[in-house]
Amino acid sequence: MKPWPYPLWLAHRGAGKLAPENTLAAFRLGAGFGFRAFECDVKLSRDGEAFLLHDDTLDRTTSGQGSPAGVDWAALARLDAGSWHSPPFTAEPLPRLTQIAAFCQANDCALNIEIKPCPGFERVTGEVAALEAERLWAGAAIPPLLSSFKPEALEGARDAAPALPRALLLDALWDGWPDTAEALGVVAVITNWRLMDRARIERLHARGWRALVYTVNDASVAERLIADGIDGLITDRVDALGPGR
Ligand code: G3P
Ligand code: MG
Repeated sequence: MKPWPYPLWLAHRGAGKLAPENTLAAFRLGAGFGFRAFECDVKLSRDGEAFLLHDDTLDRTTSGQGSPAGVDWAALARLDAGSWHSPPFTAEPLPRLTQIAAFCQANDCALNIEIKPCPGFERVTGEVAALEAERLWAGAAIPPLLSSFKPEALEGARDAAPALPRALLLDALWDGWPDTAEALGVVAVITNWRLMDRARIERLHARGWRALVYTVNDASVAERLIADGIDGLITDRVDALGPGR
């Protein structure tokens, strides 16, 4: 296996559930708890801006509605992505990937960019996210790790910026996933923690792939996986698990 530059613990969507997910406020909070690696979800506005949002629609976590794929960045930038969480985060905006890159580099944090395309935009989202990542992290010591559940998004990323590391996300072990991972040239496989055990970690390592899991919020699960040789854990519990705890 190649050297692995990423910290063992990654904060999920910034600071898990303690701050509005996928906002700069969440990243600040996660870093305050000592995290030096983050996972976030990236998709595209209508005019091709890479920004952070988990869902296919704006409804749950912003003051907007509907698919962001039909909205230009200028309008998305005016949305409130904090009030849904709690009053202290009122008016917290959606961040662009550019801002997250600046935060991570200023605070010596690594980033796992989960490419989370709106339906129908899989390949272009992978291409744009990878090109942006390559530009934003040019010369950085630790490149961002690009991951996705969508092979087409990772194909786009591979073709646009082949040198950036990629990981296949798996919520289930669908037929043919190892061949797909091979074709995508991944450096890691990131599964639901329920799919991971010592034997699978060893099989992944034997193929030259690192083994990571999401979303581990239980200390006993984390201890088992660490003993089994896991390479990375993505957690919501930035207050209870992770660096120094
Ligand atoms: O990247 C791992 C994890 O974030 C995948 O699940 O739904 O939280 O994006 P989700
Ligand atoms: Mg995610």
